[in-house]
Amino acid sequence: EKAVSVEALSFSPPIVILTQDDLKKIAAYKAVEFVESGMVLGLGTGSTAKYALDRIGELLRQGKLTNIVGIPTSKKTQEQALSLGIPLSDLDRHPTIDLAIDGADEVDPHLNLVKGRGGSLLREKMVEGACKKFVCIVDESKLVKHLGGNGLALPVEVVPFCWKFTANKLQNLFQRSGCVAKLRNDCEGNPFVTDNGNYIVDLYLKKELGDSQIASDAILRVAGVVEHGMFLDMATTVIVAGERGITIKNK
Ligand code: 5RP
Repeated sequence: EKAVSVEALSFSPPIVILTQDDLKKIAAYKAVEFVESGMVLGLGTGSTAKYALDRIGELLRQGKLTNIVGIPTSKKTQEQALSLGIPLSDLDRHPTIDLAIDGADEVDPHLNLVKGRGGSLLREKMVEGACKKFVCIVDESKLVKHLGGNGLALPVEVVPFCWKFTANKLQNLFQRSGCVAKLRNDCEGNPFVTDNGNYIVDLYLKKELGDSQIASDAILRVAGVVEHGMFLDMATTVIVAGERGITIKNK
């Protein structure tokens, strides 16, 4: 793995009582400083990425950014971008993206991520896999020592056809980590359906995953799996906003 370099910027004067939302916004605004006129941008999904889009929209309106094209990672982001007047394209027309900005659910010390608790992991992985620079934006609560086993789910997108069969296979794969595979439901108790018409099986692990590359390969070998939420060696920069300041980690 490549070494990670760290730059710390303290808030001055120190700011107290920042909410998690404040931290998300601070990280997002910092990331938008990397955006330049003329860029093709990957537009992330989630409450942190939403702040980045708002800021890009604001700079466009002010004429401080021009000639931007955005590639959204979900239908929700597409709607927000349209409402902000951000011109949109897709990977077919723009297979190379200059910069993507997106949130994450877990970030390990090597800048590997878990994403997809918002359910957009497939499009996020396609878009962020096509970019020259991927800036991940998080508040400090997302930092973990190891991916998985932190009480939160590792999301896996699966085809609806015989999803229980696929979920059982996934659960058995990680039996030793005490894995419980659960179908994700929407707020009405129906299966959550992704933008691609698939389901999400959330893997809850009692212990850390171990070698995440081996885990990734094993998950992808299960027929019925479309993609999983581990983003290994994809983020080039992670911007972490914490109560004392911003930390920028680069690969
Ligand atoms: C959606 C994602 C999000 O980026 C991730 O869930 C973080 O979301 P938030 O910024 O709301 O905490 O991967 O699929």
